[in-house]
Amino acid sequence: MKEVTLACEAFQKLLEEQLRRIANMNSEKVDFSAKETVTIGIIDGDGIGPMIMAHAVKVLETLLDREISAGSIVLKRIEGLTIENRLALGQSVPSDTLAQIKTCDVLLKGPTTTPMGGKMESANVTLRRELDLYANCRPVSIPEKNIDWMFYRENTEGEYVLGSRGVELPGMAVDFKVTTDLGTRRIARAAFEYAKNNGKTRVSIVTKANIMKKTDGKFTTIAHEVAKDYPDVTVDDWYIDIMTANLVNEAIRDQFQVVLLPNLYGDIITDEAAQIQGGVGTAGSANIGDRYAMFEAIHGSAPRLIEEGLAAYANPASILKATAMLLRHICRADAAERLEKALDSCKLTVDIGKATGAEYAEAILGAL
Ligand code: IPM
Ligand code: MG
Repeated sequence: MKEVTLACEAFQKLLEEQLRRIANMNSEKVDFSAKETVTIGIIDGDGIGPMIMAHAVKVLETLLDREISAGSIVLKRIEGLTIENRLALGQSVPSDTLAQIKTCDVLLKGPTTTPMGGKMESANVTLRRELDLYANCRPVSIPEKNIDWMFYRENTEGEYVLGSRGVELPGMAVDFKVTTDLGTRRIARAAFEYAKNNGKTRVSIVTKANIMKKTDGKFTTIAHEVAKDYPDVTVDDWYIDIMTANLVNEAIRDQFQVVLLPNLYGDIITDEAAQIQGGVGTAGSANIGDRYAMFEAIHGSAPRLIEEGLAAYANPASILKATAMLLRHICRADAAERLEKALDSCKLTVDIGKATGAEYAEAILGAL
């Protein structure tokens, strides 16, 4: 059948391309404590993005006031990553915008809309791939319930790496999932290093290796190999289905500390975890690579809030948590701590009849 031959040819190209990707994986890390100037790219995004980003930028300007004046920190506005511009150019991240982004060290990014259907890839997925942001770190903490979780989600491979490039034959569709040794080793290393450096004693590896035997099987095997270098950290394995149940099981959930997972499971379970914390508006997200890093809210651009005239209730908590993670990443621990304390002590809830996003942001600025 001609379609099968064409699909095989396409598959061969994909495999060759993936082998080239692995061959180019970079592993030189930037040392931010030694860097004279750190450039933070500011990307507003779509929908509620510009609103919550305005609050986050004010917070950054307040916390980094002296460094911005001295020139050791530069806040650089990146234009062009709006849904209108992306659709007009037919590029998920327009090339000149990407070139601008690559002049920065780290990015603070508002949510970007992904068109449903069609061919255009999510800007997030493009950026994670183009900047090789392989570690998606998502903390969830609920002190009164003794919950303190850190999710280490592999962020460039799995179901995402070829997500928009599956094949269709008459009456059938096929997508691909890719797991590599190097890609798994580096995310596992990042999770165990985090555990070691933050007094965590347990890393839980979550896959569906009973079904996805090749890819998740590899993920588990390599994660266990990496674990051998961390004898003080206990390792356990879970399948993703029972793990989603565990997070709502009050008898055991507070025992989880660091959770290490492939891309798609990490995507799904971190929304669940964020909801347990109080909603996806409350969780921050860091996309970390060796050269670049991007910090963002865990939620999307919330077009429904805008349509319903409720944009004032867009919660800036998530992007502000991401801002604190950004500050830690660039070795501005004092500024990060000031923001974390302000966030922890803020008792306002952003919701109708309670507080607006602007009121919440004012309270945080006041507490800094
Ligand atoms: C996330 C989002 C993205 C993902 C979307 C916007 C592509 O859900 O960051 O969790 O699936 O990774
Ligand atoms: Mg998600």
